[in-house]
Amino acid sequence: QTGMFTYDPGFTSTASCQSAITYIDGEKGILLHRGYPIDQLAENSSFMEVAYLLLHGELPARKELETFSYTISRHTMVHEQMLTFFRGFRRDAHPMAIMCGAVGALSAFYHDSTDITDPEQRMIASHRLIAKMPTLVAMAHKYSVGQPFLYPDNSLSYTGNFLRMTFGVPAEPYVVNPIIENAMRRIFILHADHEQNASTSTVRLAGSSGANPFACIAAGIACLWGPAHGGANEAALNMLREIGKPENIPQYIARAKDKNDPFRLMGFGHRVYKNFDPRAKVMKATADEVLKELGKSDPVLDVAKELERIALSDEYFIEKKLYPNVDFYSGVILNAIGFPTDMFTALFALARTVGWVAQWNEMISDPEQKIGRPRQLYVGAPQRDYIPVEKR
Ligand code: SDX
Repeated sequence: QTGMFTYDPGFTSTASCQSAITYIDGEKGILLHRGYPIDQLAENSSFMEVAYLLLHGELPARKELETFSYTISRHTMVHEQMLTFFRGFRRDAHPMAIMCGAVGALSAFYHDSTDITDPEQRMIASHRLIAKMPTLVAMAHKYSVGQPFLYPDNSLSYTGNFLRMTFGVPAEPYVVNPIIENAMRRIFILHADHEQNASTSTVRLAGSSGANPFACIAAGIACLWGPAHGGANEAALNMLREIGKPENIPQYIARAKDKNDPFRLMGFGHRVYKNFDPRAKVMKATADEVLKELGKSDPVLDVAKELERIALSDEYFIEKKLYPNVDFYSGVILNAIGFPTDMFTALFALARTVGWVAQWNEMISDPEQKIGRPRQLYVGAPQRDYIPVEKR
């Protein structure tokens, strides 16, 4: 018994770890970060507040928030030689390929924050990762479009600074659009952490060996890239574009239900949520708001809403408890803001870094933690003697 929560002993016996950061109830569609419901955080918090909450366990008082935000802003630049590293990539490299390489390469630059036995170095590395992800993601975009990198402007908010580095150019001043800044703030918060998902488990497993935090987050980025995980936001928008118009939806629903067809509705289903993903609800509302405030319409949003309506009235999806997840509507918003589709998962990685870093700190600061070692069910050949090749 822990407060309002009781745990099924069966569940705890299969749990991969114990954590106090995020709680999910998949049947009831509940997502809490340190006890605070995700919709309340998405509505009221700044992303720095949520980062502090995940990392330190409490919402910061004003002075604590100011100090934390200032500390993060001290680390927003990357080592100048990272620019040389970046210039080694092809211009058409996928941003997630660049992020896997660039974040892992931070280990080669910041030797003064790789000693994981030193709590101070652990926190400096955590601040560096949270601070540098927007800079690196923006650089990946600039590099792909052949525009110069913009240095961070710490007079802006975390989100505003990212938008300026991504969409600003040296030739003219960049004014942060508050509608877009607010939408990005919500999107970052909705992606911040999500209990022991595949990429977070990857970060924890890598960290359990004592690997440095930059390498661990690079491992998490690699895992997130998969279309079954964070790569689903890019795949979902591509699918909605391929569907094109509502009258084409039935054929895609039929394909999704066909066991012989590997096609799945991208942005639908979840390993844990079997009722609804609370993040999808906020994301859907944000999509409506952003397109309306930007004075934009997007036929893809109409297709998405009609696809959700049809799927949720179809017995296959009802029986298998498949609902839109966080990735179903996010692409509509990101597309409206102007991000290329292949940047979507990099944005997910940017936001999830605060959760990965919080989960890594929780794991690495536990004196009882040991190296992870998942076991297996062996189904191979029984022991047998070697046969020389001439007798095979
Ligand atoms: C994220 O873990 C997390 O918390 C992840 C995440 C996070 O914040 O970190 O929430 C982010 O990764 C969200 C998920 C994004 N992925 C997608 O949208 C890709 C499409 N979704 C599927 O690939 C799938 O739903 C998964 C991968 C998300 C879950 O796969 P499972 O574990 O196979 O799903 P399930 O066990 O609930 O499936 C039950 C049945 C299966 O059929 P049967 O084997 O029982 O016959 O439903 C089918 C599945 O084949 N099914 C789908 C489907 N998802 C599951 N059928 C059609 N379309 C789908 N999207």
